[in-house]
Amino acid sequence: MAEMSGATTPAGASGVLDGAEGVRRRDWIHVAALSTAGVGGTWLLFPLISQMAPSQDVLAASSTEVDIGAIDAGQSIKTTFRKQPLFVKRLTPEEIAAAKADDGVSMRDPATLAERTKEGHEDILITMGVCTHLGCVPLGAAEGENKGEFGGYFCPCHGSHYDVAGRIRKGPAPLNLMVPEYAFKSDTVVRVG
Ligand code: FES
Repeated sequence: MAEMSGATTPAGASGVLDGAEGVRRRDWIHVAALSTAGVGGTWLLFPLISQMAPSQDVLAASSTEVDIGAIDAGQSIKTTFRKQPLFVKRLTPEEIAAAKADDGVSMRDPATLAERTKEGHEDILITMGVCTHLGCVPLGAAEGENKGEFGGYFCPCHGSHYDVAGRIRKGPAPLNLMVPEYAFKSDTVVRVG
């Protein structure tokens, strides 16, 4: 009842409006306190975030530069990236044509050669040398190794066959050989990572 009668009382003459004013003042104090806490929190977080950011040394160690100048067409090299095997392959014109011819066929993990290479460098295929089934290192990067039924890489552990673009074509592996992030620093040097 008190509130009902107060609602009809002129402004400033009742405890209801004073009460509302009081609520507004309290809200303002809370907002001001929260804002101060937010600013303080930001200043506290900044050194924490800045400490968590990886140092230049760590960033350098997490990328690898590969000299691809000495890789002839049809050859691959094995190196490492973040302590895992990395395959770098220079495709022959025939392998490029075969990979493109298969771009549209049904695959478990569909991807075109263009999607797995860089524009203007479709002859350079860079993939992790880690089978996507259980993580073995597939064959096919070294001279004379079994390249499987599709001429790319073959994982004999359980019989996964990858084609010349590193796409899974047969066997239990669920995905294509992973293409890491990389960029060409020049025509002969690639930075991976
Ligand atoms: S780990 Fe490659 S086929 Fe099983």
